[in-house]
Amino acid sequence: MTAEQDGTAAEPGVLELGLPDPVRDPSLPARVRIHEVGARDGLQNESGLVPVEVKAEFIARLAAAGLRTVEATSFVHPKWVPQLADAEELMPRLSGLAGRYPGLRLPVLVPNERGLDRALAHGAAEVAVFASATETFARRNLNRSADEAMAMFRPVVARATAAGVPVRGYLSMCFGDPWEGPVPAAQVIGHGLRLLEMGCAELSLGDTIGTATPGQVTALLTGFAEAGVPMDRLAVHFHDTYGQALANTLAALRCGVTVVDASAGGLGGCPYAKSATGNLATEDLVWMLHGLGIDTGVDLAALAATSGWMAGQLGRPSQSRTVRALLGPSA
Ligand code: HMG
Ligand code: MG
Repeated sequence: MTAEQDGTAAEPGVLELGLPDPVRDPSLPARVRIHEVGARDGLQNESGLVPVEVKAEFIARLAAAGLRTVEATSFVHPKWVPQLADAEELMPRLSGLAGRYPGLRLPVLVPNERGLDRALAHGAAEVAVFASATETFARRNLNRSADEAMAMFRPVVARATAAGVPVRGYLSMCFGDPWEGPVPAAQVIGHGLRLLEMGCAELSLGDTIGTATPGQVTALLTGFAEAGVPMDRLAVHFHDTYGQALANTLAALRCGVTVVDASAGGLGGCPYAKSATGNLATEDLVWMLHGLGIDTGVDLAALAATSGWMAGQLGRPSQSRTVRALLGPSA
């Protein structure tokens, strides 16, 4: 008796079968740009140091899987984030990627002018500053008050923009803060408007500790819209601590947001907010978006294989439900 006859033949892969079966929801955008943060937000939180050649291969594989915005690293103080202290060594290893993948963007984080100098000297074509909606996190993450941090970013944004380098503004703790509790929407909008007025091309709203729920997301985005901010200047950045990241993303898409941050394999966290766990996993996001008939340009099988490979490098299984479903529980 053959395996087919006795029913023990392996099931074909779900992707080969055409799953998820796309069903369009016309109220949602036709295309979403994924801002991949695994190599930065993910690896900045690893307890061990990941070799620079592994980081370079990770980023190359993410680009090969179709991601076109891949945050590469941070030019922060190496004592504050030792995991990314090799930024100068990493950048030259990425220099061939833009030619191989037209339209590929490799932004890097810079907290101050010293960081910008380092980033520009190593060929960064796009940078991001990162502010906090709360005082406590500004002090812990940037060693300054929220106002002082804004003053630190102003010349960074001005100089980068003048050099033709677009700047993304991150705003952390937009929904809940592990020291201050709920964060009022008006406070978040006030800080966000300052980043946009300073010249940030895009504002990414961070649920750093993952406590947001969809009603809060809708309320905050509505508040930004009422303050005159078009949805195409906003992105959402959800950590999945309480399992809300996909639901929050759907709420944001319904409001008209089309840029979503995610991390391959669900890597992530924040070294200065211990209650921040992994980001929304890119594979879980892609599964939902493709199921909704939304174009991402991502090859899900290649992406999941990349996260499976990275899980092997890190020595632990992926946090992504989709990666584990596609590759098996030990991936
Ligand atoms: P500081 O100690 O206040 O720095 O740190 P300073 O301005 O007083 O300078 C002290 C020394 O550090 C000086 O050297 C500077 O040159 C040097 P000295 O003159 O004494 O020899 N220095 C630097 N060296 C290299 N690169 C630099 C740099 N800056 C100063 N860029 C600082 C202030 C902002 C630098 C520090 O607090 C820092 O690096 N913080 C980074 C924290 C971080 O990376 N956190 C994680 C990213 S944020 C995040 O994950 C959230 C996000 O994902 C969104 C979300 O989830 O909400 C984005
Ligand atoms: Mg983050």
